[in-house]
Amino acid sequence: MRSFFVTGTDTGAGKTALTAILGAAARAAGIDAVPMKPVQTGVPGGRRPSGDLRIAAAAAGWSPAPGETDLASPYRFARPCSPHRSAALAGHVISFRTILRSFRALRARHDAVIVEGAGGVWVPVAGRRTMLDLMQALRLPVLVAARPGLGTLNHTMLTCGAIRSRGLELAGVVMIQAGPERWTALMQDNLETLRRFGVPVLGRLPHLPDFARQPRRACLRALRHPQTRWIAPLLRA
Ligand SMILES: Nc1ncnc2c1ncn2[C@@H]1O[C@H](COP(=O)(O)OP(=O)(O)OP(=O)(O)O)[C@@H](O)[C@H]1O
Ligand SMILES: [Mg+2]
Repeated sequence: MRSFFVTGTDTGAGKTALTAILGAAARAAGIDAVPMKPVQTGVPGGRRPSGDLRIAAAAAGWSPAPGETDLASPYRFARPCSPHRSAALAGHVISFRTILRSFRALRARHDAVIVEGAGGVWVPVAGRRTMLDLMQALRLPVLVAARPGLGTLNHTMLTCGAIRSRGLELAGVVMIQAGPERWTALMQDNLETLRRFGVPVLGRLPHLPDFARQPRRACLRALRHPQTRWIAPLLRA
């Protein structure tokens, strides 16, 4: 399995859910894939995984060895805002070199690393460098978490255009059903319209009941769902 960078069309689009199910699927298939969240805001520091890393690690059934939490989550800041501001408020500047070093160290110890960005592609990380620059520095194929409903056509096409404009590999888009609403005709039309415009929509991630409280159970259950068949080829690529 290759390593991936998981971005989204916006904050709250479903990046963590996508990272979680991919990790759960990989480890269920015997692949030692681990999540990484290079910049996490809105959390306390500490030795134990917190925020998105805690959820994705729990979903995968991965307990970081001593020191691995700092590799998987090198920057954690308390203020819940854009990485550049959250870091500045804590008196830090985020270094790409530190993130790359952490990624490589983690990659050397495991089969694959699933890196979750923060917010969307144009989110500033340090100075004028953005999440897109980080994707470029890591040189990973990119997965995009997108919303299925109204507004997603514009957001998803803008996001995919930005990724492609940097020469990055767009591994695919997944439409995430964060809420329990049913899949509507509008959502289906959005999926088909995106494909007609050349966006590689892999499929959808259905709503996972109880995902927030029991991520592993929710993900393992969802892997039996026919709607998650798009995951298996990602593990083999
Ligand atoms: N398939 C799903 N089933 C159930 N809940 C979901 C699903 N996808 C997302 N959610 C919920 O929707 C919310 C937003 O999703 P998520 O945290 O994955 O977004 P994100 O893009 O990672 O956000 P951030 O920018 O904060 O990292 C969370 O409360 C999450 O638990
Ligand atoms: Mg997240």
